[in-house]
Amino acid sequence: MPKQKTFFACQSCGFQAPKWMGKCPECGGWNTMVEERDAPERGVASQFVDNTRSRPTPIGEIHGEGEHRTSVGIGELDRVLGGGLVKGSVVLVGGDPGIGKSTLMLQAMEALAATGKRVLYVSGEESARQIKLRGERLGASSEGLLVLAENSLEDILRHASEAQPDAVVVDSIQTLYSPAISSAPGSISQVREGAGQLVVYAKKTGTPVFIVGHVTKDGSIAGPRVLEHMVDTVLYFEGDRGHAFRILRAVKNRFGSTNEIGVFEMKGAGLNEVKNPSEIFLAERRLNVTGSVVVSTVEGTRPIMAELQALVAPTTFGNPRRTAIGVDYGRFTLLLAVLEKRVGLHLMGQDVYVNVVGGLKVDEPSIDLGVIAAVASAFKDVPVSPSTVVMGEVGLGGEVRAIAQAEMRAYESGKLGFDRCVMPKSNVKKLPKIKGIEIIGVEQVDEALEIILA
Ligand code: TYD
Ligand code: MG
Repeated sequence: MPKQKTFFACQSCGFQAPKWMGKCPECGGWNTMVEERDAPERGVASQFVDNTRSRPTPIGEIHGEGEHRTSVGIGELDRVLGGGLVKGSVVLVGGDPGIGKSTLMLQAMEALAATGKRVLYVSGEESARQIKLRGERLGASSEGLLVLAENSLEDILRHASEAQPDAVVVDSIQTLYSPAISSAPGSISQVREGAGQLVVYAKKTGTPVFIVGHVTKDGSIAGPRVLEHMVDTVLYFEGDRGHAFRILRAVKNRFGSTNEIGVFEMKGAGLNEVKNPSEIFLAERRLNVTGSVVVSTVEGTRPIMAELQALVAPTTFGNPRRTAIGVDYGRFTLLLAVLEKRVGLHLMGQDVYVNVVGGLKVDEPSIDLGVIAAVASAFKDVPVSPSTVVMGEVGLGGEVRAIAQAEMRAYESGKLGFDRCVMPKSNVKKLPKIKGIEIIGVEQVDEALEIILA
């Protein structure tokens, strides 16, 4: 028997080496190299070339069919996809295990089936009965929703070709198995082969395909990096399991913008769309508590108001603690230094904690002034008026700098019933008058705090 050649492949980035290594030289991951056997010579790319004779064409002569989009029927999902599902597109839905990917996909397929489409939901993780049970909770009972419990790639493709559905979901890519490759399901070669074949299927038949992948942000599970550039759209479903909110974020989108998000809430009967996220993030706010400030963040094209909390307590032992949840840690410590130096708050002997309520993560500088106000309010034990919104970027000199989309943020504040908005002076000049809301422009942090903590 001829000896089969083996090699070692990094499960995170796909790097290959003839020998095992503890650290991948490509992506720097530790202990990610796994032994795999050679796949038979069968390039995925060659299948595209086979039946299309390509030639260079002037761009003006190419007849675009126009992007044909199908609405999925879930507004938040349509929005993140860029306005609906594109024919023949491949969408990777990634996220931590248990975050709700299967639930979202089953609901999306049910919504499509309810409009009279035929859709195929393939699960390699659950039996048809389990899917049925989940379906009952979600109210999925449409005629056109076909369910297949299978993890053989060949069988899935055969069934898909026979059933000719209008959309296919494969849940999840890590459970797919092709006998053409000898390594285990979930390994990088299986994942790559599976995704490659599904991409070919989607492009050949014009069927949109959703691929579900258990993917952690640091990419520690097989495939993420490899998959991201094979597919048209990459969506991440994030949130924290302790909270009901889920955010669907486009990381890559060949057919739309990548700065859209969809907001969902996990309920007993599946995911509910959240049309107005601000209301939820502010729902449990207790008024007149020190250290609590309402800030405004813009996610994609949507302003979201959220509550920022700070707590300042004397350090009892050793170095003072600094903890930030939902806010960038580096930025947080920088703002504490600004408070110390430019405002003269002595935080040296104090533990400082900040938290964005509801599990939201804010990574834009417009909440700087909010962080400063929350910490100062907690330290001085003076509450901030509950009807005030604070926004602005803060520089190292203690100056309050202009922020983007100030007008949109101010309108959202007014809409939610806030009556005072403290924002950078440079933004105020360009702002139209907004009914029912007093806009106060500030230039310096100490001046802002005087107004906010009055
Ligand atoms: P699931 O979609 O199975 O996650 P994933 O496919 O990303 O691994 O969702 C699992 C969680 O969602 C589970 O902890 C239970 C919860 N859930 C609800 O709260 N309500 C529901 O109606 C459903 C179907 C699930
Ligand atoms: Mg699942």
